[in-house]
Amino acid sequence: MRPTSPIPTSVRWALAAVATVVVVGCASLAQPTAIDAAWAAEQWPEVTQAELQRGRALYVKRCAGCHALRLPERFPTSAWQQHVDEMAKRAHLLPAEREPMLRYLVTMSRPGAGAKEAPSPPG
Ligand code: HEC
Repeated sequence: MRPTSPIPTSVRWALAAVATVVVVGCASLAQPTAIDAAWAAEQWPEVTQAELQRGRALYVKRCAGCHALRLPERFPTSAWQQHVDEMAKRAHLLPAEREPMLRYLVTMSRPGAGAKEAPSPPG
């Protein structure tokens, strides 16, 4: 008789599912904070922290299929519009999904993004 794996198939599937969640939920893809939302509201008056969070969720959902997610800070803020334009077709992005995703990426690619508290004044 051929030796079989000591781990039952169902358990292996469960482990694979957990591993996927760990990778996709990667802590390094920053969550937008209240400070990020305040910065974003200066660019787009109607934007909320919830919309930025939705943009992050869309980014994870639509853009992780083919390659590792590029961290927002990896590209300059001004480059993201072009990247999203280029990838929109590949990702089958709906028009309504584009704006929240781009706003998340633009907001989180600026220097100092992800801070939970305002930097203390110098001196
Ligand atoms: C159907 C597959 C696919 C999907 C889905 C996809 N990409 Fe890509 N992406 C690629 C390929 C292939 C490359 C690398 C080759 C290239 O640059 O064309 C790439 C490259 C990139 C790069 C790097 C460009 C550079 O100059 O280094 C960025 C940024 C990027 N993708 C962003 C995104 C975003 C944002 C989304 C979601 C809207 C997305 N991708 C969804 C296939 C995909």
